[in-house]
Amino acid sequence: MLEVKGLSRTYYKNRKVLKNINISFPEGSFTIIAGPNGSGKTQLMRHFNGLLKPQEGEVLLDGRSIQEDLTSARRKVGLVFQNADSQIVGQTVTSDIAFGPENLRWSREKINKNVQKILDELGLDELKDRRPHTLSGGEKRRAALASVLIMEPEVIVLDEPFIGLDYPGVSDVLSDIVRLHKSGRTIILITHDLEKALAHCSRLILMNHGEICAQGDPHELLSRLEEFGIRRPWGPDRSVESMTWLKL
Ligand SMILES: Nc1ncnc2c1ncn2[C@@H]1O[C@H](COP(=O)(O)OP(=O)(O)OP(=O)(O)O)[C@@H](O)[C@H]1O
Ligand SMILES: [Mg+2]
Repeated sequence: MLEVKGLSRTYYKNRKVLKNINISFPEGSFTIIAGPNGSGKTQLMRHFNGLLKPQEGEVLLDGRSIQEDLTSARRKVGLVFQNADSQIVGQTVTSDIAFGPENLRWSREKINKNVQKILDELGLDELKDRRPHTLSGGEKRRAALASVLIMEPEVIVLDEPFIGLDYPGVSDVLSDIVRLHKSGRTIILITHDLEKALAHCSRLILMNHGEICAQGDPHELLSRLEEFGIRRPWGPDRSVESMTWLKL
């Protein structure tokens, strides 16, 4: 289980971007985090695997501070960033996906086998020799997901994975997410696009001004979004169950 306790972060001039955040993500849960621009979602997620070290508070994985073993935290908690370009390190899609395991000194045989498995799973085989920078937005997003999945993380955190994708692009990424959840992974999805994915989560967390202002069952929170600074571009009768872009 991933837990955040008393996490706060301040930048210069006492600007608090995170204020006493307390949350836990039980194993196998699916949480959506939403909130206006600048509310602190990305800052929060960068603490989940130690990319940002807590100034105040702590992040625990299975009851132990992740600071005790950052290598293990980075393997167990996979972050897929808002901007896929920032995650590209390899010259080809294959070498990009292999980068993490190479750092962990997996055997070449194990790397090749696992890279191929991920390429097949995400339908990326045709793109394996391409230079990542030449991929389309949607292809890049899935390549970034592949380079996280190769590490076999227990927790997968995705920051705005639907931005810039068309309907099939969103459906593809969303069906990957739902499949990963069904296979037992813990999913934390940061998104403004509630109508694309809300149907799949069991808990909604709303952030504003660096704080968690509400969390709970999506059915209960859906009608109260405006109270927390989130506009609803859909009508008042929209049900949680209808909020998915998954192709049927
Ligand atoms: N290095 C930094 N120095 C100062 N302030 C920062 C720094 N990084 C982020 N911030 C501020 O922290 C606040 C939260 O930023 P964050 O990126 O977490 O927002 P967000 O909720 O992810 O927004 P968005 O929906 O636009 O992605 C913002 O006001 C941002 O300007
Ligand atoms: Mg962000």
